[in-house]
Amino acid sequence: MTTLTITRPDDWHLHLRDGDMLNAVAPETARDFARAIIMPNLVPPVVTAKDAAAYRARIMAALPAGSDFQPLMTLYLTETTDPADLAAAFADGLISAVKLYPAGATTNSASGVKNINNVMHVLEKMAEIGCPLCIHGEVTDPSIDIFDREAAFIETVLDPLRNRLPDLRIISEHITTKDGVDYVRSAAQNLAATITTHHLIINRNHILAGGIRPHYYCLPVAKRETHRLALVAAATSGDPRFFLGTDSAPHTDPNKLMECGCAGVFSATNTMSCLAHVFESEGKLETLEKFASLNGPNYYRLPVNETTITLTKQPDPVQFAPKIETPDGPVTVFDPGFPLYWSASQ
Ligand code: NCD
Ligand code: ZN
Repeated sequence: MTTLTITRPDDWHLHLRDGDMLNAVAPETARDFARAIIMPNLVPPVVTAKDAAAYRARIMAALPAGSDFQPLMTLYLTETTDPADLAAAFADGLISAVKLYPAGATTNSASGVKNINNVMHVLEKMAEIGCPLCIHGEVTDPSIDIFDREAAFIETVLDPLRNRLPDLRIISEHITTKDGVDYVRSAAQNLAATITTHHLIINRNHILAGGIRPHYYCLPVAKRETHRLALVAAATSGDPRFFLGTDSAPHTDPNKLMECGCAGVFSATNTMSCLAHVFESEGKLETLEKFASLNGPNYYRLPVNETTITLTKQPDPVQFAPKIETPDGPVTVFDPGFPLYWSASQ
């Protein structure tokens, strides 16, 4: 197969940032994607409906002229979140989900949740109104090995939460382990997971073997190859509980390459080419549309897009600019480590 036309995809986990960075990266997503769930971890975070409305307006202003891209806004759950403000924002369609960051788990998560019991009344409200909860599923206990933090979270936080609030609609964000895949598969209802582009392609050797490669460092950190293979199997299976969330998270090169570099992989630019490559390698091109375009809206109870994109396999590798220039500095585009032959067009 050399061309594949699919329903236009959506990105169910995206960092657009703010200011100059927002202006530089928003067009990269708007090119191929119709909608994206916008992460609220700005500094300061997007906590109230008012914050979300203002951020949404800044995103709209950053889009290229004529773009019909739709940002799907989220609120950053804090221990002082007002459930009434949240419920009104969800009822108005201003927000599509709420994001739970365990405090200290990742970039700009200091205002996150220290003890889940302190937000239980908010989560109860969300279960009642059907508002989805996106979870960064890693424990923050410094005594837990960083490669085990996702599995520990499932056991100690996620499973008890699901038992306590079975009606809460949860998205386990950017799962990176076979444990995460198996747990989602075992759930009868109200649990789905996003999988990133880069976690389908890299394992921890890409970060650490033969020299340290900061551009592959993100959170949750990539795990060993067995886990990557489980993610590829889940993503390409067509199972409606798995869908694309790129977690494209731009940081400038100086911030990535310093002594204590930031976590985040920027993959907005070439995600669809990377995914076509991965799915083709598995002999599963026919399930790409489910993963990138159908399963997400179905879980979020939103209509699927009416427009399409066409992926075309070129005879020669497609050249992507290796960096996006921004006034803050260059942002390196995810390098899958192999040539890309698929290009996307509208
Ligand atoms: C994200 C960021 O930079 O905001 N970084 C990352 O490594 N994924 C935060 C996040 O989603 O964990
Ligand atoms: Zn993220």
